[in-house]
Parts: sequence; C-alpha cells; structure tokens
Amino acid sequence: MKNIFEFAEACLHRASIDEKLALTHQARHILENGELNLVSDDRPVLPIALVRFPDKPILQAPRHMPKRKLSTAEGVAAFFHAIAHVEFMAIYLAWDMLYRFRGMPDQFYQDWLRIADEEAQHFELIRDHLQAMNLNYGDLPAHSGLWDHARDTAADLLARLAMVPRCMEARGLDVTPAIIDKFVQSGDNESVALLNRILTDEVGHVERGSYWFKFVCNRQGLEPEAKYRLLIEQYYQGGKPKGPFNREMRIIAGFSNAELDWLENTNL
Ligand SMILES: [Fe+2]
Ligand SMILES: [Fe+2]
Repeated sequence: MKNIFEFAEACLHRASIDEKLALTHQARHILENGELNLVSDDRPVLPIALVRFPDKPILQAPRHMPKRKLSTAEGVAAFFHAIAHVEFMAIYLAWDMLYRFRGMPDQFYQDWLRIADEEAQHFELIRDHLQAMNLNYGDLPAHSGLWDHARDTAADLLARLAMVPRCMEARGLDVTPAIIDKFVQSGDNESVALLNRILTDEVGHVERGSYWFKFVCNRQGLEPEAKYRLLIEQYYQGGKPKGPFNREMRIIAGFSNAELDWLENTNL
C-alpha cells in the first residue's frame, strides 16, 4: 500500500485494533520517507455509516458508565479505560478527517496522518498503562457518544473542524491540567508523565484544527470567528460548551481572545 486513502479506507473499515495501529504507524513511516502517495484516486468515498468498530468495548450512554473516583485503584483504572477509548476514537477521527474531505492541499493530509499516528501512540501508551493495572481495553464499557459529532459533520469540513478539534479536543486542554494535579498529589508519577505527554500533543492537534478552519474559511470568503460561533450554535447540543476554559493553552492552539470571550460569556 502506498496511497494514503487506501490506508485510510483500511483503518476505518476494518475492526481489528492491532491491524489499525500497525497500518497507522506504517503509513506515517512511508510519509516521513517521502514515499506516500497523497493523490485522491477514483475510488468512491464510502459513507460514514460503513465505518467499523471492534465488538469490544461495548458502547453505552455516559449515564451508565462506571464511576471513576480517582481515590481508588478501581476508579483510576476506569478513568484510564475511558481515556484509552477517547484516544482510540481519536485515531478514527483523524483518519476520517483526511479520508472524507478531499481536494485540500497536501499539507492537510500530512497533518492529519501525523495526528492519527500520535493518537495511536497515545492509545498504546494508555493500553500498556492499563495492562499494568490488570485491565485490558474493552474490559469495561465505553462512552457511546464520541462518534456522534463525526456522523453529524460528515458532509461539512468546517463543521467537522469546529466540532472535533476545536470543541471536543479543545475540551481536553481545559480539563486535563486539573486531573494531572490530582495524580501529582497522589504521587502517581507515571500517570502524570503520560497525561503531560498527551496534553502537549493535543495542543498541536487543536492548533492544526484552528489553522485549517481558518484556511477553509478564507478559501470560501467567510469570516472565521463569526463562522465558528454559527457552527457551534448549530451543532453543539445546548448551544455552547461549558467552561472554565484554559485560555493560555487555547490561545497557543489558535483560539482568539474574542472567541474565548464569546465562549466564556453566557450572555453573548
Ligand atoms: Fe490523543
Ligand atoms: Fe488529539
């Protein structure tokens, strides 16, 4: 395989976890060697309903999820199982971004492949961490909602960029520092190192989301901040995500002060 869309098709439509991880790393490797073909061929883009997931974990609505109190060993394990699932879905989300939206510059495809590979690394790190706690990915049920935003935005690249990197992933920047603090307090240095590594990479993912959001807006003659507000109001259930927001990291990740003011101010 030498074409990025062939890799994407395989990663999205085959359920095997290990095969997905191996193909993702392989595609990244071929890209870095300058041998990956980024040209969109004639094969049709398959509808998002055909994306396949493994049989396990069983997916459940968030209200049925196990409790994740970080003060107990079971709670810590359940917490990392939830994070493993977020990272696993993030592999799909990165592949789907580059698979579904054609006609963008090469850099777009290179960026989302590198992100898919980083998500695969995050997943593997968390899976190893879980195994050290005698838990495998798939042993517990997982959140069923993470793919909903992908499905909702399958026909609209700007909506996808607004909702996935610039909403879901950006949320990680807001909540992760406080979680890291809890592990610092409990002296769990391994968890701290892991979560810090992921947080650093995630700033980069959100930044790429902001970059490409602005790029597409400019190409379509749209004002990016107004368009972002419009899309969030249209696609985010409840109209607007809740704070508090990590202003410092979100600015690094390409949010403007005006966007953050709008997110923070419930009256705007
Ligand atoms: Fe990640
Ligand atoms: Fe990410």
